[in-house]
Amino acid sequence: MATKILVTGGTGYIGSHTTVELQQAGYEVVIIDNLSNSSIDVLDGIESITGIRPAFVEGDVCDIETLRSLFRAHPGIKGIINFAASKAVGESVEKPLLYYRNNLNSLMNLLECMPEYGVRGIVFSSSCTVYGEPDKNPIDETAPIKPATSPYGNTKQISEEIIADFITSGAPIKSILLRYFNPVGAHPSALIGELPNGVPNNLVPYLTQTAAGIRKELTVFGNDYNTPDGSCIRDFIDVVDLAKAHVAAMHRMLDNDDTDAVEIFNLGTGRGVSVMELIEGFERSTGVKVPYKIGPRRAGDIEQIWAIPDKANNVLGWKAEVPVEETLRKAWAWQCHLAERK
Ligand code: NAD
Ligand code: UFG
Repeated sequence: MATKILVTGGTGYIGSHTTVELQQAGYEVVIIDNLSNSSIDVLDGIESITGIRPAFVEGDVCDIETLRSLFRAHPGIKGIINFAASKAVGESVEKPLLYYRNNLNSLMNLLECMPEYGVRGIVFSSSCTVYGEPDKNPIDETAPIKPATSPYGNTKQISEEIIADFITSGAPIKSILLRYFNPVGAHPSALIGELPNGVPNNLVPYLTQTAAGIRKELTVFGNDYNTPDGSCIRDFIDVVDLAKAHVAAMHRMLDNDDTDAVEIFNLGTGRGVSVMELIEGFERSTGVKVPYKIGPRRAGDIEQIWAIPDKANNVLGWKAEVPVEETLRKAWAWQCHLAERK
């Protein structure tokens, strides 16, 4: 019988790609999402790709009774991947309580339900934001955790601690904390991808919308950083590669008795790419020009950060494989697909 997994936030960007990979790996997926930052149509995309429509509960993970009824209606869930969270860094500064409430209450509800319903493990979506501005790059999982620069970042740090404390208290569960670097791109089918509400905050959706003429020009936030071309450096990881890491993590967590109860993995490519290099890579790989201007630095931005992904490579047996230019072509194909849908 297929192992049943609850994917919270499963109609969102990373959750939808992960649902596809889980289903293709033979897992049975139940999604809960309140559609606060995604659309029900995403289920059609998942079904078109995999031939399977995942079970879907429209509901709020912050409501524990909704969760309990989900676990009763879908007995035998063995693992959870917790994507459900609010994730806009800037908004979190303006509305900290919304972020603490949504990101922490949802996690605590899931943890509380796990022993009640025999769920053995939870994979948690953390972020390289927990490292703040690193003292040196690239960084592995032993790099110090720096004070968070936003309430959003703080929710990731606190969430990691809540999970560890709960397990230390003797809770009969395991967890894998995945620290994502910068997920970008879309599924190669162009049937699912990133669909931010309103004006995108993140680089790649802003870039593809500019290339499509939806936005007038992209602003590069600062070219006076202490980097080779003056723009910030990130570790851009293909979203399908990232999704596959969740399948590897779920397998390790549920199918091995001798692993630690809490494990942490950086998920990145190991390559730092600057904002300017990314724009040039997009233009080169798609043949589409991106109008851009250099603007002031964005408050709170980290200058440069990229991963040592060796632990994930060696322990999870997972490696980021998609070259960044292919990822950018897929982001563009998704943007074009969205334009056709209208
Ligand atoms: P997303 O907004 O596309 O997906 C999150 C989904 O969760 C959305 O569909 C939203 O409707 C849902 N959701 C939010 N709160 C909910 C609640 N209380 N109950 C039910 N559903 C709820 O975001 P994403 O980019 O797919 O990110 C997924 C996770 O990965 C988040 O936890 C995010 O913080 C983390 N993360 C993302 C990035 C990134 O750059 N995208 C980087 C690091 C970590
Ligand atoms: N950038 C621009 N112009 C834009 C948008 C972004 O120049 O219009 C630059 C930023 O200044 C930054 C880089 O592109 O240097 C990447 O910015 P993103 O907003 O795409 O991503 P961040 O690295 O700021 O943060 C992202 C997520 C966070 C997450 C973090 C680490 O938004 O949620 O990655 O995982 F915590």
